[in-house]
Amino acid sequence: MIDVYALLRPGLFLIDAEQAHNLTLGNLDRAERLGLLKYVVPSIPPQPQTLCGLTFPNPVGLAAGLDKDGRHIDALARLGFGYLEIGTVTPRPQAGNPQPRMFRLSAAQALINRMGFNNDGVVACVERVRQSHFWQTGGIIGLNIGKNATTPIEHAADDYIAAMTAVYEVASYITINISSPNTAHLRSLQAEAPLRALLTHLSEARQRLTDQFGLKKPLFLKIAPDLVASDVVLIANLLLEYGIDAVIASNTTTLREGVQGLEHAQEMGGLSGAPLQQRSNQLIASLHAQLHNQIPIIGVGGILSGHDAQEKISAGAQLIQLYTGLIYRGPSLINECVKALAPKR
Ligand code: FNR
Repeated sequence: MIDVYALLRPGLFLIDAEQAHNLTLGNLDRAERLGLLKYVVPSIPPQPQTLCGLTFPNPVGLAAGLDKDGRHIDALARLGFGYLEIGTVTPRPQAGNPQPRMFRLSAAQALINRMGFNNDGVVACVERVRQSHFWQTGGIIGLNIGKNATTPIEHAADDYIAAMTAVYEVASYITINISSPNTAHLRSLQAEAPLRALLTHLSEARQRLTDQFGLKKPLFLKIAPDLVASDVVLIANLLLEYGIDAVIASNTTTLREGVQGLEHAQEMGGLSGAPLQQRSNQLIASLHAQLHNQIPIIGVGGILSGHDAQEKISAGAQLIQLYTGLIYRGPSLINECVKALAPKR
């Protein structure tokens, strides 16, 4: 099987990172529509795993942010992911930060981004999910939700409730993203009092929606890697207290460990990729020590090989997600991770 992405990557890396992203996904869609992807993507052996009432065909998912608006669902699903997380979407459409806002730090296999939740709004996204073949045929799609930049942080819960209500019917699970560094004050929602208030509102809203639709959808919380040990203990206890179904660790870091001196290292935003890996693994291990398998952990951050995927599982994760690794390694990383996580005979 030829690795098409390996051939295209040098050319893509010559252009702006966001333009390369859009070009690649546009071409992926075209290839899918023409029925070509099945010839270049190896078939991935099923490796089902049931968590939170969902049976994941394999443990390797797409991390949020790569398909913020659900524009590329069928093409991405064809690459072999066990599940896709779409978003972050906000209640109202918003442009995000001015470009350039995504930077490659190739020597470190890393990215810095300050996209700022650019998205078409939750209604447009939900419609695209409904139109996708993947969703119509039972594929697992998580919807990751956030707040609009113009909503004061004191009213953040209103935005999360509005977005949750809009995605509830189509989402396999809903991720509450309180960990992006690119929306002012968003991460302050990880502190005890605001997090309690938010989880209280969201639990009530979920109960209302459960009654309305006769279905209880799993709620996941996505957290930052830049938390101190006492924050992790606190968050783990709140997850249990409020019946949150899973935790996603982690989002990008605002620290610059491992990239000092590299071009773009001083750009504002969140760092992802290889330099995030150890920090994310430590967070997973700390969560695991607190949660004792009472709720599952989804490991994300710096997976660039099958071995990295195994380390996430060893640290305590049950499922994994990929983003930056796909930029550096291409879609062959998905199959490599699925194989690495297969039970040893
Ligand atoms: C992200 N990430 C992200 N996360 C999220 O919850 N909502 C989002 O909208 C985005 N947007 C986004 C854009 C870009 C360009 C990147 C690189 C990342 C974070 C992502 O889902 C993941 O948590 C981190 O990138 C760490 O994983 P990797 O990239 O090291 O595999």
